[in-house]
Formats: sequence, structure tokens, C-alpha cells
Amino acid sequence: MAPPLFVLLLLCLAALPRDTAALTRRDFPDGFIFGAGTSAFQVEGAAAEDGRKPSIWDTFTHQGYSYDKSTADISANQYHHYKDDVKLMYEMGLDAYRFSIAWPRLIPDGRGEINPKGLEYYNNLIDELIRHGIQPHVTIYHLDLPQSLQDEYNGLLSPRFIDDYTAYAEACFKSFGDRVKHWVTVNEPNIETIGGFDGGVLPPQRCSHPFGVNCTGGNSTTEPYIAAHHLLLAHASAVSLYRAKYQATQRGQIGITLLGWWHEPATNSSQDAAAATRMNDFHIGWFMHPLVYGDYPAVMRSRAGARLPDLTVEQSNKLRGAFDFIGLNHYLVVRARADGSTFNLEQRDYYADAYAIANPFDDIQEGRLEYAPWALGKLLDHLKIKYGNPPVMIHENGYADASELPRKVEYEDDSRSEFLQDYLEVLYLSIRNGSDVRGYFVWSFLDVFEFLFGYRSRYGLCGVDMNSEGRTRYVRNSAHWYSGFLKGGELRSASSPGKAYAAA
Ligand code: FCB
Repeated sequence: MAPPLFVLLLLCLAALPRDTAALTRRDFPDGFIFGAGTSAFQVEGAAAEDGRKPSIWDTFTHQGYSYDKSTADISANQYHHYKDDVKLMYEMGLDAYRFSIAWPRLIPDGRGEINPKGLEYYNNLIDELIRHGIQPHVTIYHLDLPQSLQDEYNGLLSPRFIDDYTAYAEACFKSFGDRVKHWVTVNEPNIETIGGFDGGVLPPQRCSHPFGVNCTGGNSTTEPYIAAHHLLLAHASAVSLYRAKYQATQRGQIGITLLGWWHEPATNSSQDAAAATRMNDFHIGWFMHPLVYGDYPAVMRSRAGARLPDLTVEQSNKLRGAFDFIGLNHYLVVRARADGSTFNLEQRDYYADAYAIANPFDDIQEGRLEYAPWALGKLLDHLKIKYGNPPVMIHENGYADASELPRKVEYEDDSRSEFLQDYLEVLYLSIRNGSDVRGYFVWSFLDVFEFLFGYRSRYGLCGVDMNSEGRTRYVRNSAHWYSGFLKGGELRSASSPGKAYAAA
């Protein structure tokens, strides 16, 4: 017998989205992880202490290339303040802390001996987190390539990178895998390559005319693809090693984290719509396509031709399915326009190959950023539809405050809380729509050295007084808001836990 009409009506009503302002964390799936993150180079400081050697980012900043000419030699000094920080995380109610291991701290020469002091530091940090019930989510490589490998064989441009990276990753699994259950092989390979090898704005600053300024060497036409290829193969190599030797006993998960800009057409012309589609393939598909289908996207193959490295059958098999989850760092929607200029077969870079004008670096540097929470929904739909709905971790999402220098200690950051609320609402709706999202991490847990802006932009839930000797931490209102939400409060009205916890 068919159910009565009113029962059907009730069922329909129950399926409608409820008032999202009243969402609580219990509306997210069981086991959903809420956290916040940083990365080693950006937060640790202690750059020349206890055996750490320089990374390409130390060299770059020491040569005065960062936005505000600053270095990360001390930064937030988490190396010396990790206990205070873990206490803050605990009081905030974080389920997890996402951080990275500094390759040049653990294996200072890039290959060979483990630095016992580096090992001790990460063991201490991990143990401290676990003692406080906070899961360590660890990125193995977050842009800070040992300078020695850059000097020796040009870093990512050499296939030798794959072996050195794999040995380093194995040292991480062996040393920390008994306690670390969430591994990320590489953070944002899709921007490291464009920034470092096309426009040359990030280390190792390789580029060629007319695609970059201050190029000291490089080839923007070919090198981004080569560097990305080696990063992909290094990722696949670490995943297969982890699966073959460690996963069964350590029972962890391993994935890769991509920058997830979402490209939208700049106008309603069909040319711009096609340009946005191409850009999403170049930006996300560059890595997702090989990982799901075993090859680069067809549009990249046809546009970049022989400049896009071939994948052997063996490599392709190793890449396909080489992830337990995909991490996404989502900040921006980027407006893409079709490139109307005459196509120059001699002078092509990544953007020319995509036949699109969509490079947001200038806009980012000028502070012309478009925050669009709906873009996160579109990005998640894209992964669901095009790449078989992989398990996703939102590894970064956050709000930059960039008020003028000299910086002062500021607690009031309601815009940050609203930003996070807007994105969490979209995330909730995407999950209801079937996206398999398993976790969300705010960037950043506290203020750090920012890759694009030095100390000029601050993303922290907690602030750091970078002018104070002890790098005093202080708890911003957004941290109180997040804490209230994590402890069961409603999304928009999560009552602040007051001053239940104090700055370290
Ligand atoms: C991302 C980086 C991260 C942080 C944010 C703002 O591209 O992964 O380390 O600097 O940008």
C-alpha cells in the first residue's frame, strides 16, 4: 500500500536543507574532522638551529625576494613554543592540527643521515598533540626543498628528486607512522610549479622571457610541466611504498593536497566559458586526471603536445588510484578570459597553452581578491562529477587580514568568523549534495610568514605579536567563535567560550 500523502510530505520536508545558521558540528558526518593548520617553513623559525640547513625558501627570503623583504628565520617560533601552541589548540577544541615536516630539518642535506635533533623535535610535537587528544595530520613536503638538492641537480627538474623524496618520505613513515595516521605527500604542486618555473615569482625563480621578470635561468615553456611530472611521480612512488610496506601495520591514509582555485568565465561569452573550463583542467586536472585516469587531461596533451612528458604504462598504473583522499586548499574564484592574442607557437607557457588570461598573481598582490563561498561548492561538484567523488579533506581555507604596517595586536576579526561561517555553510550543503568531504582545516592556526606576503597578511585564528621577543600569542575573536562551534555551538551564533583560555 502506498504511504499516505502527509507522510510523503513530511519526508520531503525532512529532506529540505534546514536553517543553516543553526547548524552545529553534529550536522556534519560522523567522524568529520575540524582542525587548523600551518607549515614548517612558515611557522617554526629556528632556521639555523639544531642542525637544520637552508631550504630554497631560506635562500629566496635571505636574498630579499619576499613581498615585505622579511625572512622566516624566527617567524612564530613554534620550534620553541610548540607546547604553548598545543595547549591553545586543546583549549580551542581542535580535533586535528595540520603541519608539515621540514625536509631540511629532518634530513638537512636532502638525502642521507637523519638529524637526531630534527627527529626529536617532531617526535615531541607529535607526542604533545596526541597527549592532548589532537590528531597530527602531516604534510611531508610543503614547498621547502633542501637547497642542497637545488644546487646539486636543479631540484624538481631532475628525476633524481623522485628517489630522494621517496627516501625522505620513508624516513617519515618509519619514524612517525606509528602515531601519524594522515599523510599528505606534497602540498600544492599545481602552484609550486607555476610560481617557481613559469612566472618565476617563487623559488627557485626559474622563468624565461617574456613570461617572468628577473629570470636567472629557466624555460617557462617546458619546465613547469617537467617539475610537475616529477612531483606526481614522487607522490606516486611514496604512496606505493607506503601501501606496500607501512599501511597494513600503521593503518594510516595518504593523499596529496592541491591548490583549489575555481575558475569561472569572466563574461557570459562562450569563449570565456571555454577558457574557464580549460583553466580548471590545467589547474586541477593536471594532477587529478593522472591520479584518476592515469594520464594528463586531453586538452593539455593537445595544447602542450610533446612538452608534456609522456607517462609509461608502468607510471600510469602507479598513478591511477594513488590516493586515499584528495586535499584541497580553497581560497579564491579566478575569472578566466579567452586569450584573444595571436597564438605564438614559439613562445608558450602554461597560460598560453591554456589559451586563457587567468593569472591571478597580480590581483593577489594588489589585494583584488574575490571571495566567493559558492565557488567551493562548484569545486566540490567538479571533483564529484569528473573524478568519481573522491574522499576530500579541505586542508586550507581562511581569511587574510592585511591592514597596514606597523602591525598592532588586534583581537577584532569578525570578518574572519563570517568568512569561515559562509564557507562551512557551503561545505555542509555540498556534503548533503553527496560530496564525500571528511574534514576541514582553517588556514591558519596562528599568524605565520606568508609565502606571498611575508608578515603583511595574517590568517591566524590566533595572532602572534611578531614584534615581541617571545612572539606572544593572543586569541582572536574568530578563535573564540571557532571554539564555540567545535564545542557544539551553532554556526552563526556559536557562543564564545569567553576567556576560558588565555593567550600563552
Ligand atoms: C597556500 C599555502 C599555505 C598558505 C596559504 C595562504 O597557497 O599552501 O602555506 O601560505 O596559501
